[in-house]
Amino acid sequence: MDKLNRYIYPLADEMVSAFVCDFMRFLLESALEKEPVHVALSGGSTPLAVFKELAAKSSPENWEFVHLYWSDERCVKPGHPDSNYGQARKHLIDPLAIPDSRVHRIWGEAHPAVEALRYAKLLKEGLPEENGLPVFDWVWLGMGADGHTASIFPDQLNLWKAEAICVQSKHPGSGQARISLTGGILNAAKRVSILLSGEEKAPVIREVFHKEGAYLSYPISHIQPVLLEWFLDQEAAGQL
Ligand code: 6PG
Repeated sequence: MDKLNRYIYPLADEMVSAFVCDFMRFLLESALEKEPVHVALSGGSTPLAVFKELAAKSSPENWEFVHLYWSDERCVKPGHPDSNYGQARKHLIDPLAIPDSRVHRIWGEAHPAVEALRYAKLLKEGLPEENGLPVFDWVWLGMGADGHTASIFPDQLNLWKAEAICVQSKHPGSGQARISLTGGILNAAKRVSILLSGEEKAPVIREVFHKEGAYLSYPISHIQPVLLEWFLDQEAAGQL
């Protein structure tokens, strides 16, 4: 990892606004370059505030060269409230009229193992490649209180290290089938931002930042792209 930035904000709203400001700059630059850029969105609830603020502050022409993907998806239909794509569609894609031609969702309704292969093929065909891996311009990730990221969980680190760039996984608590990108493609990205808030995440953040305790058992500890940015609120950073 060449560059590691850690940004801590008093409130989650301020963290979101700071990230949105960075992303707006990225959008404006991509529109000037007039070259396609490939961005993988994370799932969960944290990105929702980012989607809403981007929908309010940007306009469709800002997104003209942006292709959207996902770091992971729940194996549910797009209309299900758990669908990461469904939430992004509602709060970002539809408000900004981003066309389907630039929205590359994971088919949560498909057979997981078959879809993991399809999505891997889509990424290999759609993204630039370096060292044999598709390269995202920007990957957004979150972190669970157990140290998972995307849909790779602490008891499934073998999936993080998988040769495949997209795999089927399972939420250890609910048993919900998931589809997730793996460590290789996530670490191949030009830029990865991890956004998280809340005191329930503070113990793992302490272990990961101080490299202590069981930190290596957390998939989040294995994120090592060339540029890694942490966006935290004070609650999540409360034990540092
Ligand atoms: C998912 C996510 C997952 C998420 C974390 C944090 O599909 O659930 O990709 O990795 O980022 O669980 O979720 P919150 O933002 O809801 O805390």
